[in-house]
Amino acid sequence: MHTLEARNICKFYDTRDGVLTVLNGLCFHADRDEFVSFVGPSGCGKSTLFNIITGLLEPDMGSILVDGDDRTGRSNEKVGYVLQKDLLFPWRTVLENIVLGLEVRGGNKAEALDKAHALLKKYRMQGYGNKYPGSISGGMRQRVALMRTMITDPEVILMDEAYKALDYPLKITLESELLEMLREERKTIVFVTHDIEEAVTLSDRVYVMKARPGEIVGEISVDLGTDSSDIPTRRMSRHFNDYYELIWKSIASPVSAAEEVA
Ligand SMILES: Nc1ncnc2c1ncn2[C@@H]1O[C@H](COP(=O)(O)OP(=O)(O)OP(=O)(O)O)[C@@H](O)[C@H]1O
Ligand SMILES: [Mg+2]
Repeated sequence: MHTLEARNICKFYDTRDGVLTVLNGLCFHADRDEFVSFVGPSGCGKSTLFNIITGLLEPDMGSILVDGDDRTGRSNEKVGYVLQKDLLFPWRTVLENIVLGLEVRGGNKAEALDKAHALLKKYRMQGYGNKYPGSISGGMRQRVALMRTMITDPEVILMDEAYKALDYPLKITLESELLEMLREERKTIVFVTHDIEEAVTLSDRVYVMKARPGEIVGEISVDLGTDSSDIPTRRMSRHFNDYYELIWKSIASPVSAAEEVA
């Protein structure tokens, strides 16, 4: 039984130009302690897939299973979502933004505040709880967005290009923190990126999607031969280029690369 499983997901939209097939029979799975990434061209349906996994959108066919339970089209407290745009509320303090994750579920407020303080400490942001999102850096805002998800203690964390807008050193720092967190917390991370390097560096497994209709054309297991969470160490692994090439081939020439991987 997988932690998260998508079976034969199809999504169509009725448009003025006819029916648009966005996702066409997509299947994938992700397990505990696993970091799984999706790479694929713009518009191939990655965000649509995430919206289906969280129950914000209903698929036209197929099902979403979490720990073996069919959760298709239903909101799901076991799944957390971190977006590229951090979407913090500017009129709420950092602390108030973090507790929001629990507040919307009607949790105990004092307990939520305790958890939020513990998270701020863990992510080295003590002292920022009473600041407003407009007065902290982009990297800190993205950390707060992750804390807002973590406070709900999800089993699966979906991240949709969460680090795209950040400068390179900051991105590296947050990616290292994310791998550390995964090691300590034993979550499942499903990550969307356009960046092959990022996918190879972070992932245990990479799914490659092709342009519309969105389908998976490659599945590549990555083993960099190191368990370090230090991003530069991972990037300098001697296996790095091989995986980069495999994924690039899969994107550039989906069918032949998929055969090669199989
Ligand atoms: N409500 C809608 N009606 C019609 N078409 C839609 C709707 N929502 C999304 N689409 C289309 O579905 C396709 C997939 O969109 P989606 O945002 O999932 O792609 P994506 O892979 O996340 O792209 P990006 O990498 O740019 O974020 C796009 O072609 C988009 O225009
Ligand atoms: Mg998207």
